[in-house]
Amino acid sequence: MFTFLAVILAVGVVSASDYKIPLIGSKAPKFSANTTNGKITFPNDFGSSWKILLSHPADFTPVCSSELLELAHLQKEFKKLGVELAVVSTDDIVLHKMWKAHLEELDYKQRGTVNIDFPIIEDPDAKVSRLYGMLHDEESTDRDVRGVFIIDDKNIVRSVNFYPVEVGRNMNEFVRMVEALQLTESKFVYTPANWEKGDDVIVPYLPYSTAELEANPKLADRYYSVGNRMWFEQGDAPTAKVDNDEE
Ligand code: BEZ
Repeated sequence: MFTFLAVILAVGVVSASDYKIPLIGSKAPKFSANTTNGKITFPNDFGSSWKILLSHPADFTPVCSSELLELAHLQKEFKKLGVELAVVSTDDIVLHKMWKAHLEELDYKQRGTVNIDFPIIEDPDAKVSRLYGMLHDEESTDRDVRGVFIIDDKNIVRSVNFYPVEVGRNMNEFVRMVEALQLTESKFVYTPANWEKGDDVIVPYLPYSTAELEANPKLADRYYSVGNRMWFEQGDAPTAKVDNDEE
């Protein structure tokens, strides 16, 4: 009886940990898998690029097809940001290759055809999907939800999002997310709600003292307050560094 209970408990622990979602700040789980671009080890093969790993429920389905076409349309934008993309579903490599070939023939939104350069990962045994918590049991035990992991150049998870099967993702949002993450990494600023590249940013500190303002009145043009602890910096400021001495 004791052995039986121990086995049940062990199985329970293993399956629960299989479904753990990698959280923001954690190391991106590593895996090797077969893809439309050959075998890859993720995230290591992408070196010090940023990475976005997206899951989708099923090949040859309309919402997923529209998502891959939008993602392919943005490949240049992601490249400029130093981002490598990878897509996974529980379908196998044969279906992935057929689907990719079909998508590459389409003239979606009259933009002409697109090549899908990023790897589409096969995951018929759901190993990758489980590793990244892309299978949400209450929804389906064998078909991924729409997951998105943004991973930085040091392979740290920086953003985690899940979307339902019924709703196609806004792929531009992931460009915006990377732009915001890279900006907040290079400068001590935060981005306000609905921020877009070039917009004003939040400075999470008092940007100048009375003495600094007296010494450099131009600071008042660069920073402004809209309320309690809501200091902003002009988005087009040439440098948005903490150090005000340069002014
Ligand atoms: C779709 O991508 O269109 C889709 C995928 C799975 C279930 C239903 C729709």
